Amino acid sequence: MTMTAHGKDYEDRDMKLRPIGVVRNSVTEVGRHDWDDVVSELVMSPELEEALSNVEEFSHIIVLFWMHKVPDLGGIPMRVHPRRRLDLPMVGLFATRAPTRPNPLGLGVVKLLERRGNILVVEGLDAVDGTPIVDIKPYLTHRDSPRDARMPEWMTRPKE
Ligand SMILES: C[S@@+](CC[C@H](N)C(=O)[O-])C[C@H]1O[C@@H](n2cnc3c(N)ncnc32)[C@H](O)[C@@H]1O
Repeated sequence: MTMTAHGKDYEDRDMKLRPIGVVRNSVTEVGRHDWDDVVSELVMSPELEEALSNVEEFSHIIVLFWMHKVPDLGGIPMRVHPRRRLDLPMVGLFATRAPTRPNPLGLGVVKLLERRGNILVVEGLDAVDGTPIVDIKPYLTHRDSPRDARMPEWMTRPKE
């Protein structure tokens, strides 16, 4: 896919992303799931173990992952129903967390239970077993939880 951004053409070959680890958990099927209690092992490349030093001093981390099982729909929807709920309005794709995106990157803020060498044990990551990990960042309370954050009403509207 070629897209124009800020007047410059970026092509696939300009973007280099490599997996740095893999998610291991008990969820093998993509679909609706209660992820809150799912414990995952993030098995990171052994050669990156030193780079994980001190990560365990944080209670939460941000995990960026590649949703490798998103089906190829032959195009990306510009508008979607959030959480596939037909009772919610169609909104722009980027106003949602829908996995069908130009780059199927997933993001999770998760509790870090422990680090065992090159393995990070986390709780609540909504990625299926085998999902490639592309980055890990510490969750920073002063940066990542803006006090004036707000959401549209439809984001939390209960199902009738
Ligand atoms: C709505 S996406 C949101 C992902 C992430 N929390 C985010 O906000 O970017 C989460 C859903 O993606 C699906 N999923 C998880 N891992 C996947 C993978 N490797 N490939 C495709 N879909 C995946 C699961 O069904 C999960 O419920």
